This record gives sequence, structure tokens and C-alpha cells, in this order.
Amino acid sequence: MVATDKVFAGSVPEIYEQFLVPLIFEPYARDLAGRVAEAGPKHVLETAAGTGVLTRAMTSQLPATARIVATDLNPPMLAQAKAKQAGDSRIEWQQADALALPFQDQSFDVVACQFGAMFFPDKIQGYREACRVLRPGGRFCLNVWDKISENEFADVVTEVLADMFPHDPPRFMARTPHGYFDTDLIREQLGAAGFANIAVNALDHRSKAPSPRHPAVAYCQGTPLRNEIEARDPARLEEATNKATDAIARRFGSGAVDGHIRAIVITATRAS
Ligand SMILES: C[S@@+](CC[C@H](N)C(=O)[O-])C[C@H]1O[C@@H](n2cnc3c(N)ncnc32)[C@H](O)[C@@H]1O
Repeated sequence: MVATDKVFAGSVPEIYEQFLVPLIFEPYARDLAGRVAEAGPKHVLETAAGTGVLTRAMTSQLPATARIVATDLNPPMLAQAKAKQAGDSRIEWQQADALALPFQDQSFDVVACQFGAMFFPDKIQGYREACRVLRPGGRFCLNVWDKISENEFADVVTEVLADMFPHDPPRFMARTPHGYFDTDLIREQLGAAGFANIAVNALDHRSKAPSPRHPAVAYCQGTPLRNEIEARDPARLEEATNKATDAIARRFGSGAVDGHIRAIVITATRAS
């Protein structure tokens, strides 16, 4: 991972929420919230909450008595999340690094993390922290993306940018969001951090958008891929977005578009 991979700031949070969340995150948030609700938790910690798509799904699937502490490394992402759920007294928002959680041992029934673990520079440390703050028998629910070839729009955008910057291709999407899909390694790392009963499932969905420009804007401008494009040439962000739009249109059509996405969904329990 390079340093800018974890920077979700500037214009990214707003574009992420408007374009990327409906494109790829909502169905997985409903699924993960269901797995959280199955555990019947009173007190939930969410790490890497981003703009709050999972937080919103949990508030609609959990009983009114459940409390959620929603955290993220980047305050601008949490600000977007908070703006959407202002006044919901069940949620407490707090900036926190998932690798150094500012919470006492055994203080939560469930820890939930949607598409955050890929950004942890030390996965076992992130899992150790989740384990530490869970009560014994508590549940950890997380998901990560499968490899980029199973996630079609991300793959097409990455190929277009490799053509545009052949000497230094922006590899953020393949390297980080789609770079942590080895299920044996994930199991091993969760086990090393103190988890048992580790269940791993692949979950496919269709990613739908009203036009080819939507996924192009979502990936080129609403993720840290933007940081990589602008680091090469800030004047070429619009050109990159246009080239991505054209490539998506060539492969998926010029009207509403529909691509395959796949994630890996994991649940585990704190062993003791
Ligand atoms: C792909 S987004 C997922 C956000 C949200 N869970 C969702 O489903 O839309 C990854 C998130 O991880 C956060 N993040 C990156 N490194 C982190 C860390 N060490 N601790 C906590 N959050 C982190 C980023 O700020 C970003 O909001």
C-alpha cells in the first residue's frame, strides 16, 4: 500500500457517497447488517465506517435499543456520514484508527467492518484490536473485495489508466481495494489475532448505473485513485474520467450499464 491509498479527503468523500455508494456498496451493507443483527447485539463498534452506508443499514435492521459507535480514520468521511444521520441518538461518531482503537477491552458485542480491512497496513494488528474490544464470544463481521478481474468496472478503469500513463500506471484499485482476497491468508490472520469459527463466503452482485459516466466518475474522482491521477498530472483528471467513460461505454453500452461485482464476506467469533 502507498501512503495516499488511505487518504479519503478533499472532493473524494462527497463523490464517493453520491456515485460509488449506490454503485457497489449498498447491497453488501444490507447483507453485513443482517449478519450483525443475527447476533442480537446491544453495543456495536463499526470501524472504517466511511460515509456511513453500513451504519444506515444497521440502524434499519437493529432494534431501537442497540447502540452503534461508528468510527473511521478520515474525519471528512465521517462528516458525510454524520450529515446523513444527524440527530440519530443511537449512533456515536468518533475518529479512530482501526489498528489502535481508543476503547476498553471487551466493550462491544459485535465489531463490523465493511470494505476496510484492505486498507489496514497490518491486518493482524487490525484484527487483534477488533478481538480485544469484543466480549468473549462476540462476533466480528467484515467483507473485502475479491480480485479485480471479478469486479468489472474497476478492472476496465484500471486498464484505461494503464494505457494513459504507460510508464507509471495508477494501480490503486488493483493494489489495495482488490488486493486482499486470499481466503486462506484471511483465515490464518484472523486465527492469529484470536478468532475462531471463521466462516468465509463469496457474494456476487450486479453493479448498476444510469450511464457509463457514473462508474467513471465514481472510480476516477470518488476514490484515492484520484490522488494517483492528480499526482501524475492534475490537469488530466477530466481526460482520465472521459477515457474511462468511453471504455465502459464500449464494453457495457452507452445507456444504463450493469457489471459483475464480487466480495468475500467473513464472520468470526472471539475465541475466549
Ligand atoms: C472503501 S472505504 C469503505 C467505507 C465504508 N465502510 C463503506 O462501505 O462505504 C474504506 C474506508 O477505510 C477507512 N480507513 C482506511 N484506513 C483506516 C484505518 N487504519 N482505520 C480506520 N479506517 C480506515 C477510509 O477512511 C475509508 O473510509
